[in-house]
Order: sequence, then structure tokens, then C-alpha cells
Amino acid sequence: MQVYSGSANVPLAQNLARRLIVPMGVVERSRFANDEARVWVKEPKVDREVIVVQSLSQPTDHHLIEFCLICDALRRRGAKEITAVIPWLGYSKQDKVFRAGEPLSVKVIASMIETVKLERIITIDLHNLAILGFFETPVDNLSAKPLFIDYFNGVSQTTMVVAPDAGAVKASTQFAQQMEVPVAYIDKKRDLVSGQVSIVGLSRPVKGFDLIIVDDLIVTGGTLLEVADYLMAKGAKSVRVGATHHTYVKGVQGKLDRSMIDQMVVTNTIQAQTKSKKLKVLDVSGLIAESLV
Ligand code: R5P
Repeated sequence: MQVYSGSANVPLAQNLARRLIVPMGVVERSRFANDEARVWVKEPKVDREVIVVQSLSQPTDHHLIEFCLICDALRRRGAKEITAVIPWLGYSKQDKVFRAGEPLSVKVIASMIETVKLERIITIDLHNLAILGFFETPVDNLSAKPLFIDYFNGVSQTTMVVAPDAGAVKASTQFAQQMEVPVAYIDKKRDLVSGQVSIVGLSRPVKGFDLIIVDDLIVTGGTLLEVADYLMAKGAKSVRVGATHHTYVKGVQGKLDRSMIDQMVVTNTIQAQTKSKKLKVLDVSGLIAESLV
């Protein structure tokens, strides 16, 4: 077995190879003069079984094409079983046709991924479980929850989990149950045109509590900024965040650093693009390795 990496997250692929005690396959990744993706599998002997690691992070479209090209090249060099590790599935936010005339983007992305034959796909904390139905290939949707539970252990009487929106209710509730702490639910609205987030309601008082907001994704940071402000205004003692995917949109980490949020804990499903005293990154390679042995 060999691990191959696209250019999106080479350190994660290396961590995974190290944990599995298998070699990294040699693949050259570059661009043609006209910016098209160019890949070249230089490994002299491609194994029957290979793992291809590629997150669909920015530049998403390039990483998607690069992934497909690597898989195609591996097949042509003799790979018979390809497991795709796509820790962050780009375009997941457009998992519905929100307004007539919009595409069902993530379904299109699933079909594009499957233009190359894959035996298995491994991903982490899908934005919406309905996305599983858009794939023909078996998909394992791993949860980063055990990492967060380990990290946030040592709870006190004042710890409470907060679900920042309806989509986060199930994950946050399970998280709170496992930590044996209460959970509060926020009713959030997002304007589809401006993207502006507003808070409509909160299920229980949070005054005096140390809160942990559990979410899957940070894009503009709008959700966390609004929710943190709102919770602090309601008397919360502190606000920390546990979010699986941080997309590192330019300028967002700075805004989060200047906010009321005390700490942001994310994972390396997307390669970290910035450093911050408030940001802690947990490694998911162990979770992925466990699912592969
Ligand atoms: C919403 O459904 C998600 O769980 C996240 O809360 C949201 O996608 C985060 O996006 P942003 O950082 O742009 O508010």
C-alpha cells in the first residue's frame, strides 16, 4: 500500500503514511503554462492498493481536478484499489437548491469525483449526511468528535455546549451528552443575498456559563462572530469553539482573533494557513488511519 498526496494537504498525507507505516508514493504536481493542473506519477512501482489524500480546499477547483488526474494516472500505472481520503469536501455548503435557479453543487462535485473509479471514499464530518446519497462509491464519514471530547475534557459545573444553528443540533447534543454537560440551541438565520447572519433565539439561559460552540465549518466566520457576541451579551463567562473544518478564508482568522472568542479548536482536515494564539489544530490522521486498518 502507498499513500499519494495532492497538493492540498501534504503534511496530513505524510502523517497518515507514518501512522500506517507505508511509503509515500512519488507524484509531481505543477501547472502548465496556461494554468491547467499537471501531475506526473513518478513512482517506479505503483502498488495495487493506494490511498490518495486530497482536501477540496482553496483553490478548490484546482484541487478537485488535480485529485482526478492523480487517480487516473495511478490507474494507468496499475493501481487496482483506490481509497480516496477527502477530509474536507468542498462545495458542501451548497447541499440544497436554496433558490430556484441554483445548482445542487455538491451532487455535481460527487459526480465529478466519481469520474475516476474509486473503491472507497473517506471523509470527515460531512456538512450534511444527505450528501452521502450523492455518491455511488461507499463513503465512510468519520467523526472528529472524539478528538474534541479529549481536548475539552475536564468540564466543570459551568460548562455548557452550544449548537449555533439547526444543522448543528444533532452533533452538539451528542457531544454534550458524551461530555455530560447541558446543551443550548441557537436559532440562526442567514440572509441568502448578503450572507449576513442574525440570531433569532436561544433555548436556555447561558449567564455565568463557560460555553463550547460545536460546529462543522468556519468560512466567513459570520456564524461564530454573531453567536459569540450574542452569547457574551447574554452573560456567558467564556466562549470557546470546536469546529472540524477551518477554510482559512483571507482575513477571517484576524476577525476571530479580535472577537470575544477565547479559543478556537479546529482540525487539520484543511492545512493550516495561519497561526494564532487563539487557534489550536488537532490532527485527524489517527482517526483516518484507524478506519483503514
Ligand atoms: C452552517 O450550516 C454551518 O454549520 C456553519 O455554521 C457555517 O457554514 C459557517 O459559515 P460561516 O463561517 O460563513 O458563518
